[in-house]
Amino acid sequence: MKVTVTQIFLLLLLSLVHSFAEQRSNEEEEVERSQFPSGFLFGAATSSYQIEGAVLEDGKSPNNWDVFCHIPGGIKNGDTGDIADDHYHQFLEDIEIIHSLGVNAYRFSISWSRVLPRGRLGEVNPKGVMFYSKIIDNLLLKGIEPYVTIYHHDHPQELEERFGAWLSPLMQEEFVHFAETCFENFGDRVKYWTTINEPNLLAEMAYLWGRYPPAHCSAPFGNCSSGNSDTEPLFVLHNMLLSHAKAANIYRHKYQLKQGGFIGIIANTLMCEPLRDIELDREAAKRALAFYIAWMLDPLVFGDYPPEMRQYHGNGLPRFTSEETKLLTQSLDFIGINHYTSLYAKDCIHSTCSSDGDRAIQGFVYLTGERDGVPIGERTGMRRFFIVPRGMEKIIEYVKERYNNMPMFVTENGYSPPEKQDEQEEDLVQDAKRIEFHKAYLAALARAIRNGADVRGYFIWSLMDNFEWVYGYNTRFGLYYVDRQTLRRTPKLSARWYANFLTNSGHNHVENAIPGSFKIKDAILTRLKTQKAEM
Ligand code: FCB
Repeated sequence: MKVTVTQIFLLLLLSLVHSFAEQRSNEEEEVERSQFPSGFLFGAATSSYQIEGAVLEDGKSPNNWDVFCHIPGGIKNGDTGDIADDHYHQFLEDIEIIHSLGVNAYRFSISWSRVLPRGRLGEVNPKGVMFYSKIIDNLLLKGIEPYVTIYHHDHPQELEERFGAWLSPLMQEEFVHFAETCFENFGDRVKYWTTINEPNLLAEMAYLWGRYPPAHCSAPFGNCSSGNSDTEPLFVLHNMLLSHAKAANIYRHKYQLKQGGFIGIIANTLMCEPLRDIELDREAAKRALAFYIAWMLDPLVFGDYPPEMRQYHGNGLPRFTSEETKLLTQSLDFIGINHYTSLYAKDCIHSTCSSDGDRAIQGFVYLTGERDGVPIGERTGMRRFFIVPRGMEKIIEYVKERYNNMPMFVTENGYSPPEKQDEQEEDLVQDAKRIEFHKAYLAALARAIRNGADVRGYFIWSLMDNFEWVYGYNTRFGLYYVDRQTLRRTPKLSARWYANFLTNSGHNHVENAIPGSFKIKDAILTRLKTQKAEM
């Protein structure tokens, strides 16, 4: 049979139309709670520094962010977390708004400098412990599972000054002490622990770009007063992995059996797509995932850094002893995944790149959000975040394949709108785009689960507008709007949508997530009563 050029052209056109239509329909797919397994955790997430405020109250010491925010020029508009959302004083009202969403889980983190103001050198601060204890108790009374991150970017400044915090192996013992303090004081009620939020992002932001404290970097990545962007991120991440492994080891041996919980870690994940339709960029996209995600997860599952990294870093990459390898590979019950965006990857081994992609620390990959001036997805309020729902499905698939389908939780996913001048509350609460975002990402997650991925929960970042690190308060990720003058919380349209999405289901109670957790209800009530009497 003879095929004419016109026929080939028509066939090509048809297949293009078909794949475009398929993509559209995937992304517009309606999503329902019932598409997720029973017992699935649906929650919202926050972190201590971003919401608590009460900067030096009740025995809390200054932490690295407290100090950093007061250095002029560090944070947009000179914002600080001194007051933040004043959650320290308003936590009971906040638990009410969490409850009104109808979620069965709430993810939050513990402020190290509130609980152990001087680290191992000082005492446990009873007021700090009491604060988190009350949060946990009040959540459980409402049938909400506390999902606790031990460390989310903030540590006592003293550790920075004494020995350089994450740059030193001494930080490992400090972290283990902090983690154990948490297991001891809260582990009777907390069943989900994550040790460290995004070691990979922290290493990159604080020691490569120098944008988070302690602001270390070197050229071509930035102009900091100290640091070495080519090497420090590697040492810092190494110390964080060992800190995690040692804390998990203590949990396994002293607490897990008695307390019956689970322990994991959280990775920042971005999906990478080849910039150009060529093999070199397809390889670059894979390499970028290895140098960013597998960098922190391979050691925890296989006991060593990914082979791609060994190949390019040679002896520059730290080594684990066999004892450490053993600890690492026994340290995970699940993987937490923070996912927001996809980026394009361009090869820099054989192609010419701008200077920052041209380095081993970046895997010789240049990452960008645009191809020929066209963004990879709709833009958001974050310069490097674009709306690419299929990235969620792909990243879950990547983690599932690489790590033998270990249980996963999506511990963060969220949207902030591009900032507009003089925007008012009335506009910001009408957040139809955020609803669209979550529907599309949830539909992608549901597809990954249908494809066999063992995902057990999903947390929206964030419960309420908060201190978005170097971007300050004008970058708003919340389901609740927070007025910066009055600190009043107002549900956005998305909060109503989430509540609606969640109540249209029969599996929304915590009993499904943790059998027997209500047995401790009486104990909680008794404790809350005694605390009241003591006050
Ligand atoms: C993540 C952080 C979280 C928040 C979101 C937008 O990297 O874990 O605290 O800042 O980004």
